[in-house]
Amino acid sequence: MEIRAEEISRIIRSQIEGFDAQVDVAEVGTIISVGDGIARAYGLEKVMAGELVQLGEGDRSVMGLAFNLEEDNVGIIILGSSDSVKEGDQVKRTGKIMSVPVGRQFIGRVVNPLGLPIDGKGPIKADTTNPIERIAPGIVDRKSVHEPMQTGLKAIDSLIPIGRGQRELIIGDRQTGKTAVAIDTIINQRETGVICIYVAIGQKRSTVAQVVKTLEQYDAMKHTIIISATASDPAPFLFLAPMTGAAMGEYFMWHGQDGKPSSKTNAGGHVLCVYDDLSKQAAAYREISLLVRRPPGREAYPGDVFYLHSRLLERACKLSDERGAGSLTALPVIETQAGDVAAYIPTNVISITDGQIFLENDLFNSGIRPAVNVGISVSRVGGSAQIKAMKSVAGSIKLDLAQYRELAAFSQFGSDLDKATLAQLNRGQRLVEILKQGQYQPMPVEKQVVSIWMATNGYVDDIPLPHVRRFEKELLEYLEVNAPEVLRGIRDSKVVSDEAKVALKDNATAFKEDFMSQLTSPTGA
Ligand SMILES: Nc1ncnc2c1ncn2[C@@H]1O[C@H](COP(=O)(O)OP(=O)(O)O)[C@@H](O)[C@H]1O
Ligand SMILES: [Mg+2]
Repeated sequence: MEIRAEEISRIIRSQIEGFDAQVDVAEVGTIISVGDGIARAYGLEKVMAGELVQLGEGDRSVMGLAFNLEEDNVGIIILGSSDSVKEGDQVKRTGKIMSVPVGRQFIGRVVNPLGLPIDGKGPIKADTTNPIERIAPGIVDRKSVHEPMQTGLKAIDSLIPIGRGQRELIIGDRQTGKTAVAIDTIINQRETGVICIYVAIGQKRSTVAQVVKTLEQYDAMKHTIIISATASDPAPFLFLAPMTGAAMGEYFMWHGQDGKPSSKTNAGGHVLCVYDDLSKQAAAYREISLLVRRPPGREAYPGDVFYLHSRLLERACKLSDERGAGSLTALPVIETQAGDVAAYIPTNVISITDGQIFLENDLFNSGIRPAVNVGISVSRVGGSAQIKAMKSVAGSIKLDLAQYRELAAFSQFGSDLDKATLAQLNRGQRLVEILKQGQYQPMPVEKQVVSIWMATNGYVDDIPLPHVRRFEKELLEYLEVNAPEVLRGIRDSKVVSDEAKVALKDNATAFKEDFMSQLTSPTGA
């Protein structure tokens, strides 16, 4: 057979012309199996890990996340109800990495991990979208942590201070007050301009509703976004929720008040992200991973659960001045079983964070609330973020408490103790009282400083133990009325000046005389 030269060129030309059209065709695959919120599909050779795909067509379609890329098929997490998709349905690539809507309009709202409102207050107009996974800022873009993130809790702000941009773990068994610490911290941001994001993972719907109600009651929803993936939501939602929280937080950190990117002249925002709790996220991740048949590792968790948490927590940072000096502080929560901090997930997250706040059942039950074990809790960076006034009083309380703990262990056995030992025990018991604090009563730093200054300078040593907390409360009220300038001075200058010390001494002595005379008078009046 003879082929003419012009025919060959025609064939080649038509093939070249057709080449473009072929590439343009959206890549479409077919579902080969669906179940437990996971679909497998073939024919999506070029799909990216973490890409958003559309399963099914028209009204019945639902979005999915390409999660597991295997040689001949793709494991897809279905984001929504899997009832409407079935074997043989189409899967379409979108070419987009999964993102969530973000922006200022989200403040005050309750949303699901896809950024859709679930508080019945209508649709939310997003400023833009942010990818749920983002490489954490590099070293050049960062600056060291140097501003305090006040929790308003004396036990934490004095002994385990947290800085803006830090990652501090809250760890303890269930019902030890972990959520309480986080909520108090959010309430304490009312006047600081810090935007708070509370991510509820795997909690009961009623518990989340209670959190929303509490925050509303204390006027704290106006600076807070709640992202909720409850225990009744599908596992992928629990897995995504913390990343959605980080994506929403990053928006505020990288943008100024005006919504424009932050820069040297346009200060970025300060954000606090609470992930309550990451144990539930790890369990959801384990569930998904086992369903897509990833090999299980220690405690049946997939090998990369450490990487999952480190990617998330690395996103907390303090940006450099060139980048607008915004910050994202992360307070991840981990629930332990019977105080076992050596389990897989707790040890992972302990090693990723910059310190941990240990909450203990025994302390909680003996009435020490917040039930912080100050002996083993640490903050590895916050010290540099403490204001001078707090730093100066915190040094002595740390020492006094350490001595008290040592003595208390021994004194249980002996009965005749010398005077010095008794005095130290006495002081320690009162310091423990002073560090107790009720829920929803975060305290401004200047009052914390005064309380601790009084206690470490012996003003409460002779107050009977059951009256210590009342003494503290009434003394602060007395100062507010009789010496407001002292409190204001500490707040504004961030130090306890010599004049302030004299004023505190005088006022405390005057008030105490009155307080003691009431205690001893038979009528108690
Ligand atoms: N400082 C506190 N003073 C009094 N009660 C507290 C305090 N902190 C927590 N609680 C109470 O203890 C219970 C458990 O607290 P929660 O924060 O829900 O624990 P967790 O999150 O560790 O399970 C709640 O009923 C809460 O009101
Ligand atoms: Mg809780």
